[in-house]
Amino acid sequence: MKTFTINTDSGSSRILIGERLENLQRYIPETRPIIITDSNVRHLYPLDSIGGNVITIGTGEANKTLDTIQEIYAQLLSIQTDRSAFVVGIGGGIVCDITGFAASTFLRGLRFGFVATTLLAQVDASVGGKNGVNFNGYKNMVGLFHQPEFVICDPEFLKTLPPKEICCGLAEIVKHAAIADADLFTYLEQHAEDILALDRQAIEKLVLASVRIKSSIVSRDETEKGERRLLNFGHTFGHAIEKASGVAHGEAVSMGMVLASAASVKRGLLSVQEDQRLRGLLKRLKLPNGSVSNPQIIFNAVEKDKKRAGDCIHFVLLNGIGNAVVEQIAIEELKETLYVAINS
Ligand SMILES: NC(=O)c1ccc[n+]([C@@H]2O[C@H](COP(=O)([O-])OP(=O)(O)OC[C@H]3O[C@@H](n4cnc5c(N)ncnc54)[C@H](O)[C@@H]3O)[C@@H](O)[C@H]2O)c1
Ligand SMILES: [Zn+2]
Repeated sequence: MKTFTINTDSGSSRILIGERLENLQRYIPETRPIIITDSNVRHLYPLDSIGGNVITIGTGEANKTLDTIQEIYAQLLSIQTDRSAFVVGIGGGIVCDITGFAASTFLRGLRFGFVATTLLAQVDASVGGKNGVNFNGYKNMVGLFHQPEFVICDPEFLKTLPPKEICCGLAEIVKHAAIADADLFTYLEQHAEDILALDRQAIEKLVLASVRIKSSIVSRDETEKGERRLLNFGHTFGHAIEKASGVAHGEAVSMGMVLASAASVKRGLLSVQEDQRLRGLLKRLKLPNGSVSNPQIIFNAVEKDKKRAGDCIHFVLLNGIGNAVVEQIAIEELKETLYVAINS
């Protein structure tokens, strides 16, 4: 097992890669934890045997709302939760985001940790201390920064994940490599088949590398004033594509990375060969690397992006593979990129 500690203003968080759910008790106080999970994970895994109260939420983004938070508060009240309680979110990114938000706000803050059960949660959502819910159709509009005490990344959970969910995690891993680690990018190119076969060694290497990259960026910029924006690579268009077309987040981010890569070439920061390497890697990992349909709808969604400031937007560009920069880009230039990429 590899242990990794992130220290930030809002606390420190231990990431335990390769640790097993069975060892959860090592990381929580003696009291029985309150477990928050979703109905799929509860159905697949014997969480009741851990020996605490289990609160189960529904699956899907539509459940990542203040209504669900209120239901959790009500259940916490009904089981007479006091400030000595410890909350453990066991699930994917939605369970982690919801658990972090509910635990951080109930009684002005309960202690909490995560067992991340999707590849995306292990490499991304559970690391960094961002918690929150969607509001009025906008993703992650309401929330706060608060670190989980620990994150267990148990590789056993990945065996029951549908392939589509594996793709979502892989897209974020490619993102991490593209923005910060050229060697990891090469490793991905050389081991695509092992990775798709979920070879345990390969996956643990990727989880560790991703956690390292994300945590080092996050610990330098916890509240997203600067460097953390790099983690949004592929996400400006990605979020818009996700919203407009309803494809899975990872697929949308993959297409968003292709568009951001095209914008990087246009600005002279990335060579055509490097752009092709990115597209080639996405293809080998069975991620979409082509164009998007319905550019106007996607563009409208970009315009509404919450990170927009005036006529410009903070946009992450690749400055070579393994290196990224944030630049203010005029909305009009993005529009051009979108149309040019679609027609190429
Ligand atoms: N806080 C952050 O920094 C951050 C970063 C990235 C993403 N996110 C959030 O994470 C969410 C997406 O996370 P996700 O992709 O893990 O989605 P998810 O939580 O919806 O999980 C995906 C699906 O897999 C199921 N599942 C979970 N574990 C399983 C397992 N071991 N076996 C079989 N099925 C399993 C879930 O029930 C769900 O149906 C989004 O809401 C996103 O906004 C947050
Ligand atoms: Zn993402």
